[in-house]
Amino acid sequence: MTPAFEDILRKPDLDREEIKLLLSAEGDRMKALLRRALEVKLARLDNCVHLRGLIEYGNVCEKDCLYCGLRSGNGNVERYCLSDEEVLSCARLAHELGYGSVALQSGERSDPAFIAKIERLVREIKKIDGGSLGITLSLGEQSDDTYRRWFEAGAHRYLLRIESSTEELYYKIHPRNGKHSFQKRIACLESLKRIGWQTGTGVMVGLPFQTQDHLADDLLFFKRMDVAMVGLGPYIPHPDTPLYRLRDLVPPAAERMDMTLRMIAVLRLMMPEINMVAATANQTVDPQGREKAIAAGANVIMPNLTPGEYRESYFIYPDKACVKDRPDQCRSCLDIRLAAIGHRIQYNAWGDSLAFTKKAKG
Ligand code: 5AD
Ligand code: SF4
Ligand code: FES
Repeated sequence: MTPAFEDILRKPDLDREEIKLLLSAEGDRMKALLRRALEVKLARLDNCVHLRGLIEYGNVCEKDCLYCGLRSGNGNVERYCLSDEEVLSCARLAHELGYGSVALQSGERSDPAFIAKIERLVREIKKIDGGSLGITLSLGEQSDDTYRRWFEAGAHRYLLRIESSTEELYYKIHPRNGKHSFQKRIACLESLKRIGWQTGTGVMVGLPFQTQDHLADDLLFFKRMDVAMVGLGPYIPHPDTPLYRLRDLVPPAAERMDMTLRMIAVLRLMMPEINMVAATANQTVDPQGREKAIAAGANVIMPNLTPGEYRESYFIYPDKACVKDRPDQCRSCLDIRLAAIGHRIQYNAWGDSLAFTKKAKG
């Protein structure tokens, strides 16, 4: 290890060249990077992992992202939408399991019935045990007015991945068919922040045509947008999607995993107090993927609470983890897996982003 490399690991502000150097670290250098990121996380955030019980509300989607199994053009999906009672019983289960927060995720819809139903559900979830559950929404691009309605109903965190912060790459993975706009997505992130949401974004790692320059720019984008949360995960080719044809341009699973870990670690150095999700997709490319992501600097896990009969229909990418496991099994599984790497779950707390709460206090 050169002293110069060690110095970069301790710099408060990393420039693009330094980020690229860290993203290309292998062997001992990569180990040093992950070790440093873990040290920074433990110093700022302790060894706590926050849970968000994931409720996959529905797989109807208006969009046509070229990588995702839920795209509207995929005719091989049985579409579903949970009833109010199904969503609320998932939320009650989250509360009983001590998860502290739920995340409601769905394919993108903007019809008035959907918007009203989500608003109603947020209000109902807030009634459980006097508002004890935190609510994250991940429901795509919406109007200012919709974002405001859902926020006023009581949800307070919103995840909207930019997928790639390079406009050119964005349009290689989203069709230019009038339904997808890079500028609109950025405008949505800005609107969420303006309204007061704890705002999160993220990208997929290992996309066809994606370079280290793109990934370095993604990290700088997160920093520039000053987001409170980030979700990063490996891209997983899905056979029923157009991007599958380019699967020969996708790096092997082990490389996607390592690049994801380096991205998490570098971002932890750059933004020490944000929340970062150890995405479930990590576990698809590596059985220990989520724990590795936690050990590289992530601090949030989203265990699945979707009722068993719908899980296989929420087929964003193949071989999703835990599809056949019951929520109580995931809970004890996570306890054990996290204890094995010296972490612990913080039960019965919202687990907000420290970066956000500090700023809110001024
Ligand atoms: N592989 C990995 N992640 C994917 N997503 C969608 N399709 C895939 C895929 N094939 C991610 C996107 C989206 C989130 C809901 O799932 O980043 O924002
Ligand atoms: Fe729909 Fe989201 Fe999948 Fe795109 S990534 S097709 S918006 S569910
Ligand atoms: Fe679901 Fe391990 S977390 S079985």
